[in-house]
Amino acid sequence: MMPEKWLGSVVFLAIVMFTNVLGAYVGVNIGTDVSDMPSASDVVAILKANQITHVRLYNADSHMLKALSDSRIEVMVGVLNEEVLGIGESPSAAAAWVNKNVAAYLPSTNITAISVGSQVLTSVPNAASVLVSAMNYLHKALVATNLNFQVKVSTPHSMDVIPKPFPPSTATFDSKWNSTIYQILQFLKNTNSYYMLNAYPYYGYTTGDGIFPIDYALFRPLPSVKQIVDPNTLFHYSSMFDAMVDAAYYSIEAFNLSGVPVVVTESGWPWLGGAKEPDATLENAETYTNNLIRRVLNNSGPPSQVNIPINTYIYELFNEDKRPGSIAEKNWGVFFPNGTSVYPLSLSTSGQITGNSSMVFCVVKDDADTDKLQNGLNWACGQGQANCSAIQPGHSCYLPNNIKSHASYAYNDYYQKKRSAGGTCNFDGTAVATAIDPSYGSCIYTGSTNSSTSMGISPNVAFGPISPLGGSSKLPVSGIQFVIPAAFLFLVMFQLGIYA
Ligand SMILES: *[C@@H]1O[C@H](CO)[C@@H](O)[C@H](O)[C@H]1NC(C)=O
Ligand SMILES: *[C@@H]1O[C@H](CO)[C@@H](O)[C@H](O)[C@H]1NC(C)=O
Ligand SMILES: *[C@@H]1O[C@H](CO)[C@@H](O)[C@H](O)[C@H]1NC(C)=O
Ligand SMILES: *[C@@H]1O[C@H](CO)[C@@H](O)[C@H](O)[C@H]1NC(C)=O
Ligand SMILES: *[C@@H]1O[C@H](CO)[C@@H](O)[C@H](O)[C@H]1NC(C)=O
Ligand SMILES: *[C@@H]1O[C@H](CO)[C@@H](O)[C@H](O)[C@H]1NC(C)=O
Ligand SMILES: *[C@@H]1O[C@H](CO)[C@@H](O)[C@H](O)[C@H]1NC(C)=O
Ligand SMILES: *[C@@H]1O[C@H](CO)[C@@H](O)[C@H](O)[C@H]1NC(C)=O
Repeated sequence: MMPEKWLGSVVFLAIVMFTNVLGAYVGVNIGTDVSDMPSASDVVAILKANQITHVRLYNADSHMLKALSDSRIEVMVGVLNEEVLGIGESPSAAAAWVNKNVAAYLPSTNITAISVGSQVLTSVPNAASVLVSAMNYLHKALVATNLNFQVKVSTPHSMDVIPKPFPPSTATFDSKWNSTIYQILQFLKNTNSYYMLNAYPYYGYTTGDGIFPIDYALFRPLPSVKQIVDPNTLFHYSSMFDAMVDAAYYSIEAFNLSGVPVVVTESGWPWLGGAKEPDATLENAETYTNNLIRRVLNNSGPPSQVNIPINTYIYELFNEDKRPGSIAEKNWGVFFPNGTSVYPLSLSTSGQITGNSSMVFCVVKDDADTDKLQNGLNWACGQGQANCSAIQPGHSCYLPNNIKSHASYAYNDYYQKKRSAGGTCNFDGTAVATAIDPSYGSCIYTGSTNSSTSMGISPNVAFGPISPLGGSSKLPVSGIQFVIPAAFLFLVMFQLGIYA
């Protein structure tokens, strides 16, 4: 299995990188089991303020689809698990679904995909027999309305359908799903669609009983004696995320199919957990999410498919406090309903992602009311004691001479100086925190790494109250069974130096 000479040593492998013309994207899932869910227009304002370009809805909520119109945000709409049976048994139900939830909103709402159910094979096995028909009927309805080139149909799977994901090169789908998955893959190939994968290193790590170092799950560099290498391909896996994506590619390949890209429809890390969930911490969530974004936006694929970017949707926009399950299950959100990020992060390709200890800036929200902005600006430069000299005529941040730009500068200066004393980034709801450095040209914002007044400020995060259990129909994402083959365990132990 593994030649003697590799034992306990580091295998270096050069991976040739190809630049991809189509940049990778990071989107966000919007779950709705939230007790204080903001209005659809507020949700869209939060998305825009954070330059989020792709979202996945679990349903086809008409308020959200309307609010997303003309936003240029690409939208994946969802068929609920309870709708799959009806659609899979009736072409006319599929056509009605497409007309009501997709055709009615295009082109102003940029719907680009339909995800059929959520982890149907493992969550609602009774619907598995009609899953492929449901996908086919929906696709035919799109063809009939001439939308099939614009809108792709697929179905998200959990890692559960791949019982032995490591080493990735030997991964295959659970043979009890062979015929269903084969049909799904053929459908995806024939319709130029993609495989939807929910990939959670959080579960891989927490159910791995200490086999994997947490750094491997969090995309942190591994010491040379702990490198994780696939013994068959000699590929180095610098993160569990990459290994999971490759396990999906190799499982697809085992059916002799190729050319079906993998899109990660869910990945994330909970930031608060119960007594038995010690890894669900703010620090780990911040590290995972920012490193995930940085990993995806570097445009490279996993080791076996370096030139296919791993487009990924973060799980998830807000904490779903009404979901059943443990405390960690309710705390995956990256934003509070008021639009403040739970921890600093940047979702934008243009943003500088600093991963570890990112700086937080305070800027004007895209859709802020002008009168409120004027009040906020006056207050920041007056009572708030912000240093507003840079936005005076002739100074570095005077241009562009508009209230939005001036207020952003003043808000941020106030926030950087007063934050440790309890100052917030709110200004009557006209401000939003961001990890993107708003500096431009010679206009350097306070706190920018290029600013002489740079200060080490840590995020000021409040832990919201934990709401009681509520009735929710959404199935938990957990329950991923991680079976670690002895062969891989062996490999890891060697790499950990246990036998070295
Ligand atoms: C919708 O998204 C597609 C896919 O990225 C893109 O090509 C198209 O230009 C977008 N349409 C609009 C109206 O933004
Ligand atoms: C499922 O497919 C794999 C190849 O991918 C094959 O080895 C296996 O025998 C199949 N199992 C069944 C039950 O058909
Ligand atoms: C894939 O192709 C190989 C080589 O042609 C063959 O041995 C194998 O049985 C095929 N597997 C499947 C699942 O068709
Ligand atoms: C992108 O990420 C992969 C996986 O972590 C890494 O191997 C590669 O070196 C990175 N490429 C660049 C250009 O940073
Ligand atoms: C990230 O932060 C940790 C703890 O503060 C530190 O040990 C580590 O060196 C930092 N890593 C980087 C890449 O800055
Ligand atoms: C205010 O900011 C300007 C630069 O924009 C700087 O030159 C000046 O020293 C600052 N004043 C105070 C009191 O910090
Ligand atoms: C900060 O300084 C670096 C190096 O001087 C420069 O490349 C970068 O563009 C500057 N960033 C901003 C936001 O001004
Ligand atoms: C937003 O909500 C969080 C959690 O409730 C709270 O800690 C934070 O102070 C709020 N931020 C603003 C700007 O109101």
